[in-house]
Amino acid sequence: MVEACIVGASGYTGGELLRYLALHPDVEVVLATSREYAGLPVSYVHLNLRGFYRYLRFTKLNLDEVTRKCSIVFLAVPHGVSMKLVPELLRTGIKVIDLSADYRLKDPKVYEYWYGRRHEYPELLREAVYGLPELHREEIRKAQLVAVPGCNSTAAILAAAPLVKYGLIDLDHIAVDVKAGSSEAGSKPYPGSHHPERENAIRPYDPAGHRHVAEVEQELGMLAGRSIKVAFTPHAVSAIRGSLATVHAWLKEGVSERDVLRAYTSMYRGEPFIRLVRVGLLRYPDPKYVIGSNYADVGFAVDERVGRIAAFAAIDNLGKGAAGQAVQCMNIMLGFDETKGLLIPPLKPA
Ligand SMILES: NC(=O)c1ccc[n+]([C@@H]2O[C@H](COP(=O)([O-])OP(=O)(O)OC[C@H]3O[C@@H](n4cnc5c(N)ncnc54)[C@H](OP(=O)(O)O)[C@@H]3O)[C@@H](O)[C@H]2O)c1
Repeated sequence: MVEACIVGASGYTGGELLRYLALHPDVEVVLATSREYAGLPVSYVHLNLRGFYRYLRFTKLNLDEVTRKCSIVFLAVPHGVSMKLVPELLRTGIKVIDLSADYRLKDPKVYEYWYGRRHEYPELLREAVYGLPELHREEIRKAQLVAVPGCNSTAAILAAAPLVKYGLIDLDHIAVDVKAGSSEAGSKPYPGSHHPERENAIRPYDPAGHRHVAEVEQELGMLAGRSIKVAFTPHAVSAIRGSLATVHAWLKEGVSERDVLRAYTSMYRGEPFIRLVRVGLLRYPDPKYVIGSNYADVGFAVDERVGRIAAFAAIDNLGKGAAGQAVQCMNIMLGFDETKGLLIPPLKPA
């Protein structure tokens, strides 16, 4: 049995890590930290976990205890907090999976631009592996530090990657539109998340400067072998979970729908958590049908009239967009079957 710690276990991604790991046959969560709820049972906060984790209580973070009791640690805390914890943890040899944005970007100048602060450990940005198994599986296998991608970035990259990898689109005109549920913003309330303000909202936010675009440009740029700029606009919608990315791009001369289909099937064949959506009562991806799971539903439509492709990826922001993906990375890092503890069908209706 592998012993694990979740730092920031009282939050939404921390709770979702507890939910997935409750089903994992080879991993036991032995430490769950929270400053606010230290001393209380984890089910005091995560009411859905009543009956699970009978003896697990939140504790205050004590790094010595973490490294003494655990061989893997999840950091489910805000960016800035992870930045300082990671180097101390890495020194002890423990494996670290960071769900924050602190170690996702390779270039410290790009980090500073988007996060408004200097990165204190730029040398670790090179060491960290971007935790998207569909692009970095072999690096994740050898990594001590994995930086789990953002939820909107995961959806955007998965939707666009085959088009970029196989050179099917004009790389100078890519626009991403994301619709996202409220849990994406975490469990601490703020004016825009107050129920009367959020319910029934369809609200653009950071329409010309959302931070997640930096990861999308980094990863699509790596696939293309050149730098790429992406236009990116997220919208807050009236849902609790879910992120739907729609990528608008223009197909190169002569590229057919068959070429596009071949690109998606070639890239995602054998991927355990990618489902290519082509048929069904509703034939395009919708987060509604991946809620509660680690699946990403991917699909596309070719708009021949104007030579455009609309590519879609739907995820649960707390699943493939955070905790599910973190557990998938953990399985790879620990040499387990990648799907262990994760083969849960999504909810319906959700
Ligand atoms: N929500 C999503 O859909 C999503 C998706 C992908 C990635 N992420 C990233 O995952 C991380 C966690 O997000 P979340 O949505 O779970 O946030 P959250 O619900 O606000 O939870 C944050 C957790 O961090 C703890 N925390 C806050 N400040 C801390 C500090 N200074 N030291 C130690 N612990 C601290 C909090 O517990 P106490 O205050 O009790 O200590 C809480 O358990 C963030 O970096 C976020 O950007 C979130």
